Amino acid sequence: MKTYIVGNWKMNQSTNEINNFFSFLNTEKSELSRILSSENKEAWIAPQFIHLSMVRELCTPLAMKVGAQNSSTHEKGAFTGEISSKALKDIGAHFVIIGHSERRSIFKEDYKMLKDKIQLALSFNLKVIFCIGETLQEREEKRAVSVVRTQLEESLRDINKTAFTSEIILAYEPVWAIGTGKNATPDEAQEMHAAIRGIMTNNLGINSEVAILYGGSVTPTNIQELMKQKDINGALVGGASLKAEDYLKLCQAKK
Ligand code: PGA
Repeated sequence: MKTYIVGNWKMNQSTNEINNFFSFLNTEKSELSRILSSENKEAWIAPQFIHLSMVRELCTPLAMKVGAQNSSTHEKGAFTGEISSKALKDIGAHFVIIGHSERRSIFKEDYKMLKDKIQLALSFNLKVIFCIGETLQEREEKRAVSVVRTQLEESLRDINKTAFTSEIILAYEPVWAIGTGKNATPDEAQEMHAAIRGIMTNNLGINSEVAILYGGSVTPTNIQELMKQKDINGALVGGASLKAEDYLKLCQAKK
């Protein structure tokens, strides 16, 4: 199975910073291409919408891929300010992140909206990174697995099962670990990733192996221990993906 290093830039980076990011990666082009080809790895970046075309052009010569942080629940029409899956595909986006906890909590996206977004994205041949994860309170109340199970069941139950191996990637991101500097320990992450695999098979009837990324305060320092875990297939990284030097180090972690 492939390993994925996905940078979620959130609402960060100027055009100048983006140019600097890719200038550095271009100086390390041979190392990056060694990693991507010999280690069966994918290096993806999700910038702000308005930078998608720019980042796509910078990514292509490096064999990296670009995607969006969100997409609309609607296919087209009078939805001022929304961005459609069709438009994302049209400008060359490869994937879209759906269900990030910031979208769920700040923008009140519910299971049904997430399901609609996933279905539309898949129908336009975008790959989907579907995020799940519990809050600190839910973990302390020992409800982490059941919360994640509900998130998976409610948004994925009706999705075509053949989409899973290649089109849908899961990202387990405990909410208490996002942007806090407190990452799950490799054991905690592995335990949840194994539970997620069980839920996919037993509750959703998905028998193929699905890539599951870990996200939440991943850094060049802690990524290696996380990647060693059997059921972790990569990382979804916010803060530590903004600097090219760090991003390259994240890519260098061995599976
Ligand atoms: P972080 O964010 O790496 O800054 O914790 C991860 C994410 O929100 O995807």
